[in-house]
Amino acid sequence: MSFAGKTAFVTGAGGGMGLQIACDLMAAGANVAMVDVKPQPDCIPLGAGNFIYLKSDLSDDAAVKAAVAQTVEAFGGIDLLANVAGVLWFDRDKSALEMDMDVWDTVFRINLKSMVHTTRHIAPHMKAAGGGSMVHFSTIQCLRGDDAPQDAYQASKAGVIALSKSLAIQLGRANIRSNVILPGPAQSPMQARWDDDAAAIENLSQVVPLGRVGQVTDMSNACLFLLSDKASFITGTELVVDGGLLARP
Ligand SMILES: NC(=O)c1ccc[n+]([C@@H]2O[C@H](COP(=O)([O-])OP(=O)(O)OC[C@H]3O[C@@H](n4cnc5c(N)ncnc54)[C@H](O)[C@@H]3O)[C@@H](O)[C@H]2O)c1
Repeated sequence: MSFAGKTAFVTGAGGGMGLQIACDLMAAGANVAMVDVKPQPDCIPLGAGNFIYLKSDLSDDAAVKAAVAQTVEAFGGIDLLANVAGVLWFDRDKSALEMDMDVWDTVFRINLKSMVHTTRHIAPHMKAAGGGSMVHFSTIQCLRGDDAPQDAYQASKAGVIALSKSLAIQLGRANIRSNVILPGPAQSPMQARWDDDAAAIENLSQVVPLGRVGQVTDMSNACLFLLSDKASFITGTELVVDGGLLARP
Protein backbone atom coordinates (compact mmCIF):
# COMPACT_ATOMS: atom_id res chain seq x y z
CA MET A 1 0.00 0.00 0.00
CA SER A 2 1.32 3.42 -0.91
CA PHE A 3 0.19 6.59 0.82
CA ALA A 4 2.47 8.86 -1.20
CA GLY A 5 0.98 12.34 -1.56
CA LYS A 6 -1.45 11.81 1.34
CA THR A 7 -1.54 13.60 4.67
CA ALA A 8 -2.68 11.80 7.83
CA PHE A 9 -3.71 13.14 11.23
CA VAL A 10 -2.95 10.45 13.82
CA THR A 11 -4.06 10.88 17.43
CA GLY A 12 -2.50 9.00 20.32
CA ALA A 13 0.72 9.05 18.29
CA GLY A 14 2.86 9.21 21.43
CA GLY A 15 1.47 5.85 22.59
CA GLY A 16 1.62 2.27 21.39
CA MET A 17 -0.74 1.82 18.44
CA GLY A 18 -0.81 5.46 17.34
CA LEU A 19 2.99 5.65 17.15
CA GLN A 20 3.13 2.44 15.11
CA ILE A 21 0.41 3.67 12.75
CA ALA A 22 2.16 7.02 12.26
CA CYS A 23 5.49 5.32 11.53
CA ASP A 24 3.93 2.81 9.13
CA LEU A 25 2.09 5.58 7.28
CA MET A 26 5.34 7.55 6.95
CA ALA A 27 7.14 4.45 5.70
CA ALA A 28 4.42 4.16 3.06
CA GLY A 29 4.95 7.75 1.93
CA ALA A 30 2.37 9.77 3.88
CA ASN A 31 3.04 13.02 5.65
CA VAL A 32 1.80 12.65 9.22
CA ALA A 33 0.66 15.00 11.95
CA MET A 34 1.35 13.07 15.15
CA VAL A 35 -0.87 14.34 17.95
CA ASP A 36 -0.71 13.40 21.62
CA VAL A 37 -0.91 14.99 25.04
CA LYS A 38 2.45 13.34 25.83
CA PRO A 39 5.82 14.79 24.77
CA GLN A 40 7.33 13.57 21.51
CA PRO A 41 8.79 10.04 21.79
CA ASP A 42 12.60 9.89 21.50
CA CYS A 43 12.93 7.66 18.45
CA ILE A 44 10.65 8.23 15.49
CA PRO A 45 12.14 6.35 12.53
CA LEU A 46 12.54 8.33 9.32
CA GLY A 47 10.15 7.33 6.56
CA ALA A 48 9.47 8.35 2.99
CA GLY A 49 7.00 10.92 4.33
CA ASN A 50 7.58 13.72 6.85
CA PHE A 51 6.01 14.37 10.24
CA ILE A 52 5.18 17.13 12.64
CA TYR A 53 4.57 16.31 16.31
CA LEU A 54 1.86 18.34 17.99
CA LYS A 55 1.57 18.13 21.79
CA SER A 56 -2.09 18.77 22.25
CA ASP A 57 -5.04 17.80 24.47
CA LEU A 58 -7.68 16.34 22.15
CA SER A 59 -10.45 16.85 24.69
CA ASP A 60 -10.03 20.61 24.10
CA ASP A 61 -11.87 21.65 20.94
CA ALA A 62 -9.81 24.84 20.46
CA ALA A 63 -6.58 22.85 20.75
CA VAL A 64 -7.77 20.38 18.11
CA LYS A 65 -8.80 23.22 15.80
CA ALA A 66 -5.31 24.71 16.16
CA ALA A 67 -3.62 21.33 15.55
CA VAL A 68 -5.65 20.81 12.38
CA ALA A 69 -4.72 24.32 11.17
CA GLN A 70 -1.01 23.62 11.85
CA THR A 71 -1.27 20.37 9.88
CA VAL A 72 -2.89 22.05 6.89
CA GLU A 73 -0.28 24.82 7.01
CA ALA A 74 2.54 22.26 7.09
CA PHE A 75 1.25 19.77 4.51
CA GLY A 76 -1.47 21.56 2.50
CA GLY A 77 -4.51 19.46 3.51
CA ILE A 78 -5.68 16.31 5.33
CA ASP A 79 -6.82 13.07 3.64
CA LEU A 80 -6.66 10.51 6.44
CA LEU A 81 -7.65 10.46 10.12
CA ALA A 82 -6.71 7.79 12.64
CA ASN A 83 -8.53 8.48 15.91
CA VAL A 84 -6.42 6.28 18.19
CA ALA A 85 -6.08 8.23 21.46
CA GLY A 86 -7.92 6.82 24.43
CA VAL A 87 -7.64 6.11 28.14
CA LEU A 88 -8.41 3.07 30.27
CA TRP A 89 -7.97 3.94 33.93
CA PHE A 90 -7.86 0.58 35.69
CA ASP A 91 -7.75 2.25 39.12
CA ARG A 92 -10.64 4.72 38.70
CA ASP A 93 -12.93 3.36 35.97
CA LYS A 94 -15.38 1.03 37.70
CA SER A 95 -19.01 0.01 37.85
CA ALA A 96 -21.37 2.84 36.88
CA LEU A 97 -23.12 2.16 40.19
CA GLU A 98 -20.18 3.37 42.23
CA MET A 99 -17.71 5.35 40.17
CA ASP A 100 -16.88 9.03 40.53
CA MET A 101 -18.95 10.87 37.91
CA ASP A 102 -16.18 13.39 37.26
CA VAL A 103 -14.02 10.47 36.14
CA TRP A 104 -16.93 9.25 33.97
CA ASP A 105 -17.15 12.67 32.27
CA THR A 106 -13.39 12.89 31.73
CA VAL A 107 -13.23 9.43 30.16
CA PHE A 108 -16.05 10.38 27.80
CA ARG A 109 -14.34 13.67 26.90
CA ILE A 110 -11.12 11.86 25.98
CA ASN A 111 -12.48 8.65 24.42
CA LEU A 112 -15.52 9.97 22.54
CA LYS A 113 -15.77 13.76 22.44
CA SER A 114 -12.16 14.08 21.21
CA MET A 115 -13.23 12.09 18.13
CA VAL A 116 -16.06 14.54 17.53
CA HIS A 117 -13.54 17.40 17.72
CA THR A 118 -11.19 15.81 15.18
CA THR A 119 -13.90 14.76 12.73
CA ARG A 120 -15.64 18.18 12.82
CA HIS A 121 -12.43 20.04 12.05
CA ILE A 122 -11.01 17.55 9.54
CA ALA A 123 -14.08 16.62 7.46
CA PRO A 124 -14.09 19.99 5.60
CA HIS A 125 -10.47 19.39 4.53
CA MET A 126 -11.31 15.87 3.32
CA LYS A 127 -14.24 17.30 1.34
CA ALA A 128 -11.92 19.89 -0.21
CA ALA A 129 -9.55 17.07 -1.20
CA GLY A 130 -12.38 15.15 -2.91
CA GLY A 131 -12.59 12.42 -0.27
CA GLY A 132 -10.87 10.76 2.65
CA SER A 133 -10.84 7.92 5.14
CA MET A 134 -11.29 7.84 8.92
CA VAL A 135 -10.54 4.99 11.31
CA HIS A 136 -11.64 5.24 14.93
CA PHE A 137 -10.40 2.96 17.73
CA SER A 138 -12.92 1.24 20.00
CA THR A 139 -12.47 -2.13 21.79
CA ILE A 140 -13.97 -5.61 21.74
CA GLN A 141 -14.95 -4.93 25.36
CA CYS A 142 -17.89 -2.80 24.23
CA LEU A 143 -19.50 -5.88 22.65
CA ARG A 144 -19.46 -7.99 25.80
CA GLY A 145 -19.62 -7.59 29.56
CA ASP A 146 -16.74 -7.69 32.01
CA ASP A 147 -16.59 -9.25 35.47
CA ALA A 148 -14.40 -6.32 36.52
CA PRO A 149 -16.44 -3.48 34.98
CA GLN A 150 -14.85 -0.37 33.48
CA ASP A 151 -18.18 1.13 32.53
CA ALA A 152 -17.03 4.57 31.36
CA TYR A 153 -14.47 2.98 29.02
CA GLN A 154 -16.93 0.40 27.71
CA ALA A 155 -19.80 2.87 27.16
CA SER A 156 -17.60 5.57 25.62
CA LYS A 157 -16.13 3.03 23.20
CA ALA A 158 -19.63 1.83 22.25
CA GLY A 159 -20.37 5.45 21.40
CA VAL A 160 -17.41 5.44 19.01
CA ILE A 161 -19.15 2.76 16.90
CA ALA A 162 -22.43 4.69 16.77
CA LEU A 163 -20.64 7.91 15.86
CA SER A 164 -18.67 6.22 13.10
CA LYS A 165 -21.76 4.66 11.52
CA SER A 166 -23.56 7.98 11.50
CA LEU A 167 -20.54 9.75 10.00
CA ALA A 168 -20.30 7.06 7.31
CA ILE A 169 -23.85 7.82 6.21
CA GLN A 170 -23.45 11.60 6.41
CA LEU A 171 -20.13 11.70 4.56
CA GLY A 172 -20.48 8.87 2.04
CA ARG A 173 -21.53 11.11 -0.85
CA ALA A 174 -18.45 13.23 -0.19
CA ASN A 175 -16.37 10.07 -0.73
CA ILE A 176 -15.31 10.04 2.92
CA ARG A 177 -15.28 6.63 4.64
CA SER A 178 -15.58 6.02 8.39
CA ASN A 179 -14.77 2.69 10.04
CA VAL A 180 -13.88 1.33 13.46
CA ILE A 181 -11.22 -1.08 14.69
CA LEU A 182 -12.07 -3.19 17.72
CA PRO A 183 -8.77 -4.38 19.20
CA GLY A 184 -8.54 -7.27 21.58
CA PRO A 185 -5.95 -7.16 24.37
CA ALA A 186 -2.66 -5.89 22.94
CA GLN A 187 0.76 -5.15 24.39
CA SER A 188 1.25 -1.39 24.54
CA PRO A 189 1.90 1.29 27.17
CA MET A 190 -1.82 1.10 28.02
CA GLN A 191 -1.19 -2.45 29.27
CA ALA A 192 2.00 -1.54 31.20
CA ARG A 193 0.59 -3.68 34.05
CA TRP A 194 1.81 -6.70 32.04
CA ASP A 195 5.40 -5.44 31.76
CA ASP A 196 6.58 -7.43 34.78
CA ASP A 197 3.92 -10.11 34.59
CA ALA A 198 4.76 -12.71 31.98
CA ALA A 199 2.26 -15.08 33.63
CA ALA A 200 -0.62 -12.69 32.88
CA ILE A 201 0.32 -12.58 29.19
CA GLU A 202 0.69 -16.36 29.11
CA ASN A 203 -2.69 -16.93 30.77
CA LEU A 204 -4.39 -14.55 28.37
CA SER A 205 -2.65 -16.13 25.39
CA GLN A 206 -4.13 -19.49 26.39
CA VAL A 207 -7.68 -18.24 25.80
CA VAL A 208 -6.96 -16.49 22.49
CA PRO A 209 -7.60 -18.93 19.61
CA LEU A 210 -4.46 -17.75 17.79
CA GLY A 211 -2.46 -18.36 20.97
CA ARG A 212 -1.03 -14.90 21.66
CA VAL A 213 -2.00 -11.39 22.68
CA GLY A 214 -2.09 -8.65 20.06
CA GLN A 215 0.83 -6.43 19.07
CA VAL A 216 0.69 -2.83 17.94
CA THR A 217 1.72 -3.96 14.46
CA ASP A 218 -1.44 -6.11 14.23
CA MET A 219 -3.56 -3.00 14.85
CA SER A 220 -1.51 -0.83 12.50
CA ASN A 221 -1.80 -3.34 9.65
CA ALA A 222 -5.60 -3.37 10.02
CA CYS A 223 -5.75 0.41 10.31
CA LEU A 224 -3.66 1.02 7.19
CA PHE A 225 -5.86 -1.38 5.24
CA LEU A 226 -9.02 0.53 6.22
CA LEU A 227 -7.36 3.88 5.51
CA SER A 228 -6.18 2.71 2.10
CA ASP A 229 -7.90 2.55 -1.28
CA LYS A 230 -7.91 -1.26 -0.89
CA ALA A 231 -10.90 -0.64 1.39
CA SER A 232 -12.61 1.78 -0.98
CA PHE A 233 -16.05 0.09 -0.71
CA ILE A 234 -15.90 -0.40 3.06
CA THR A 235 -17.57 2.16 5.30
CA GLY A 236 -19.75 2.24 8.41
CA THR A 237 -18.43 -1.04 9.73
CA GLU A 238 -16.20 -2.56 12.43
CA LEU A 239 -13.11 -4.72 12.07
CA VAL A 240 -12.39 -7.00 15.03
CA VAL A 241 -8.63 -7.56 15.51
CA ASP A 242 -8.43 -9.94 18.47
CA GLY A 243 -6.91 -13.26 17.42
CA GLY A 244 -10.35 -14.85 17.59
CA LEU A 245 -11.09 -14.01 21.24
CA LEU A 246 -14.64 -12.77 20.59
CA ALA A 247 -15.46 -15.92 18.63
CA ARG A 248 -15.22 -17.97 21.84
CA PRO A 249 -18.41 -18.82 23.74
N1 LIG B 1 -3.90 -1.94 24.34
C1 LIG B 1 -5.04 -2.62 24.38
O1 LIG B 1 -5.08 -3.75 24.95
C2 LIG B 1 -6.29 -2.08 23.75
C3 LIG B 1 -7.39 -2.93 23.61
C4 LIG B 1 -8.55 -2.46 23.04
C5 LIG B 1 -8.62 -1.14 22.60
N2 LIG B 1 -7.54 -0.32 22.75
C6 LIG B 1 -7.69 1.06 22.25
O2 LIG B 1 -6.72 1.31 21.26
C7 LIG B 1 -6.32 2.68 21.29
C8 LIG B 1 -4.81 2.77 21.41
O3 LIG B 1 -4.41 2.14 22.61
P1 LIG B 1 -2.90 1.90 23.02
O4 LIG B 1 -2.83 0.53 23.55
O5 LIG B 1 -1.99 2.34 21.95
O6 LIG B 1 -2.80 2.91 24.27
P2 LIG B 1 -1.64 3.88 24.73
O7 LIG B 1 -1.96 4.26 26.13
O8 LIG B 1 -0.32 3.26 24.45
O9 LIG B 1 -1.82 5.14 23.77
C9 LIG B 1 -2.91 6.01 23.88
C10 LIG B 1 -2.38 7.41 23.69
O10 LIG B 1 -3.48 8.35 23.80
C11 LIG B 1 -2.94 9.51 24.37
N3 LIG B 1 -3.96 10.37 24.97
C12 LIG B 1 -4.71 10.10 26.05
N4 LIG B 1 -5.48 11.16 26.35
C13 LIG B 1 -5.20 12.12 25.43
C14 LIG B 1 -5.67 13.43 25.21
N5 LIG B 1 -6.60 13.99 26.02
N6 LIG B 1 -5.17 14.13 24.19
C15 LIG B 1 -4.21 13.59 23.38
N7 LIG B 1 -3.74 12.34 23.53
C16 LIG B 1 -4.23 11.62 24.55
C17 LIG B 1 -1.99 9.00 25.44
O11 LIG B 1 -1.06 9.99 25.87
C18 LIG B 1 -1.35 7.82 24.76
O12 LIG B 1 -0.11 8.14 24.18
C19 LIG B 1 -7.04 3.31 22.48
O13 LIG B 1 -8.17 4.02 22.02
C20 LIG B 1 -7.47 2.12 23.31
O14 LIG B 1 -8.62 2.36 24.07
C21 LIG B 1 -6.38 -0.75 23.31
